[in-house]
Amino acid sequence: MSTDTLPNPEKSPEQSGGGELIRLDHVTKRFGDNVVLDHLDFAVDAGKHVTLIGPSGSGKTTILRLLMTLLKPDEGTITVDGQKLFPATEKERREVRKQIGMVFQQFNLFPNMTVLRNITEAPVTVLGMSKDEAVERAKGLLDLVGLADKCDAHPAQLSGGQQQRVAIARALAMRPKVLLLDEVTSALDPELVAGVLDLLRDIARTTDITMLCVTHEMNFARDISDQVLMFDSGRVIEAGPPEKIFSEPEHDRTREFLSAVL
Ligand SMILES: Nc1ncnc2c1ncn2[C@@H]1O[C@H](COP(=O)(O)OP(=O)(O)OP(=O)(O)O)[C@@H](O)[C@H]1O
Ligand SMILES: [Mg+2]
Repeated sequence: MSTDTLPNPEKSPEQSGGGELIRLDHVTKRFGDNVVLDHLDFAVDAGKHVTLIGPSGSGKTTILRLLMTLLKPDEGTITVDGQKLFPATEKERREVRKQIGMVFQQFNLFPNMTVLRNITEAPVTVLGMSKDEAVERAKGLLDLVGLADKCDAHPAQLSGGQQQRVAIARALAMRPKVLLLDEVTSALDPELVAGVLDLLRDIARTTDITMLCVTHEMNFARDISDQVLMFDSGRVIEAGPPEKIFSEPEHDRTREFLSAVL
């Protein structure tokens, strides 16, 4: 697979300088009486790959959904590239939101659109890209993810692994500064997992996109992560480089979690 056509978003001063790209301050999210995130603080530097690990229900997906603006925090502020995502007006939020792409566990492709249209739709309607340019770029991305021959297929005609590779191409088509990945291989048949993880490894290695990743694939997390954050009950209980977290965790809770998943 060639990685020549991988998007390499224009470097902002923050990105080239490796400054802070994502920042959550005192973020609290409740569902009824259930306090899912409890005054959560953390920051991700531009170009870094950060993996969130932790038990089911600890709030990992909730964080990604807040960044995607699919949910609103009850308290706290979220900033992306120095611009407020929360609190902000809808217009401000839409602008910030353009810099963020997400790939979901269940692909979430548009079932009634061809593969090509799935990828060109948002660049045309949200970024105002010309149709010709969007199509040209989409074809380059499909080539990259190994699906150049599937332009005219509909999602239902693809395997899970192929659908997930289209979803990754669709997210990259927006030239995001931030890519959010939520257990993107956990709905795949085991033999399809490696291909998708290899693609993500290539993207991590060859672009300066900041990645925030939730995964149970610990070898993958070890390979791509600059930092691993261990969550429990809506708080970061331990953070560090993967070699530290996976080999010498400090918290009993982290040790218990890792021994259950490794
Ligand atoms: N829309 C919702 N309405 C009510 N409760 C919700 C909603 N979304 C999430 N929750 C609750 O918030 C908590 C955290 O959920 P979240 O999906 O963030 O966990 P997670 O860490 O991603 O877990 P998993 O590893 O199982 O995916 C859970 O207790 C869940 O039941
Ligand atoms: Mg989740």
